[in-house]
Amino acid sequence: MIILGIESSCDDTSVALLNITNKKIEILAELTASQIDVHKKYGGVVPEIAGRKHAEKIIPLVEEVLANGLQTTDYSKNKPDVIAVTSGPGLITGLIVGVETTKTLSYLWDVPIVSVNHIEGHIHSVLVESRKSKIKSHFEYPVEYPVLSLVASGGHTELILSKKENHYEKIGGTRDDAAGECFDKVAKLLGFDYPGGPKISEFAQKGNPEAIKFPRPMINSDDFDMSFSGLKTSALYWLRDNAKKLVNSYQLPITTKKNFCASFEQAIIDLLVTKTIKAVKKYNPKTVILGGGVSANKKLRNTLEQETQGLSTFYFPLSTYCMDNATMIAVASYHHAIKKEFTNWQDLQADPNWKIYE
Ligand code: KG4
Ligand code: ZN
Repeated sequence: MIILGIESSCDDTSVALLNITNKKIEILAELTASQIDVHKKYGGVVPEIAGRKHAEKIIPLVEEVLANGLQTTDYSKNKPDVIAVTSGPGLITGLIVGVETTKTLSYLWDVPIVSVNHIEGHIHSVLVESRKSKIKSHFEYPVEYPVLSLVASGGHTELILSKKENHYEKIGGTRDDAAGECFDKVAKLLGFDYPGGPKISEFAQKGNPEAIKFPRPMINSDDFDMSFSGLKTSALYWLRDNAKKLVNSYQLPITTKKNFCASFEQAIIDLLVTKTIKAVKKYNPKTVILGGGVSANKKLRNTLEQETQGLSTFYFPLSTYCMDNATMIAVASYHHAIKKEFTNWQDLQADPNWKIYE
C-alpha cells in the first residue's frame, strides 16, 4: 500500500511516501522543511507565522516527494493509495494547511484519507528502523501488548497504556508544562536559541548532575502525574540569585553553566523515569515505548533502557524520527488503512485538541 504522509501540526512541514505491507515498511521519499530559523528569534513558535510557512512549503514538498517516490508526475498513471494526515492535536494554523491540502488531493485523485492523531504518530515512530530500509511492519515487528508509551515533546507529556492495537488509555502526564516546553523555557533563560532542549543536553553531558538540588515536583505522588512548572520557576529563582542578569537572559561561568544544565536535566529525567517505572510496575507492560522530541535526549533513553531491563522491552525512535515527521504519520495510518477506517474529504477537520484516549 502506497501511503502519502503529511504532517504540519507545529513548526515542521513534512511529507513522506511509504510503501507499507504487513511484511515491511519501505520509505520511498521523505522531506521535511523546518521552520526553526524563522521562529528562533521569537524564542518559540509563532502560530501565525507557522501557518504561513506551512502554506508556502507544503505543495512544493508534496510535488518533490511524489516525483522522487513515484518516479512520475503523471498522477493519472501512478498515485498513492492512501493519504495520511495529522488532523490534531497541534496548532490550528498549521493543522489546517495539512488538512486542506489533503482534502484537495483526495478530491482530485479520488484517494481515501486516514486522519491520524499526532500522538499516535509519535508512538509508531519506533517502528521505522532506518531511512530507506526495508523492515518488518508492526504486525511482525516484535512490539508486544500491553504497551506503555511515554510521549514527551514540546507540547505533550503523557503516559499512555495500550492493551491492544488502537487502544489508548491515558494513565498520567503533566498537569502543567510539557517536558520539552520546560527544557525550552529554561534554555531561553540561559540565552540558548529555540528549541533549547538539545543545547541543554549538550552542556549537561560535561556537567555534574548533583551540583544543584532542583526540586522534583509530584515525584512521590500516588498517581502517574507530573509537574514541570515548579521546576522551571525554581530554575529561574536559582539564576536570579546566582547568575549575572543580561537583557533577556542570565550569564554563568562555563563550568557552572554545565553543572546547571546537568542538574536541571537530571530533575526532568528523574520525574519522567520515576513515573514511567511506577506505571510499569503497576501495569506490567510487555513493551515500553519512548516517543516525541524529548526522546532525542540520550540520557533519558539510557536511563529508561536500564530501568526497564528485566521488566519490559524498551523501544525508542531513531534520532531522525524523534522530532515531528510525516513518516511516522504514514506508519501510524497503516493499521487504520487496512481496516478501511477512512474519513471522507467532506468530513475531515483539523482538531487542535484531539485526544486519542477516551
Ligand atoms: O515532537 P517535537 O518535534 O514537537 C512537538 O510535538 O512539540 O518535540 C520538540 C521538543 C522541543 O521542546 C525540544 O526542545 C525537545 O523536543 N528536544 C529535546 C531534545 N531534542 C529535542 N529535549 C531534551 N533533550 C534533547 N536532546
Ligand atoms: Zn510532536
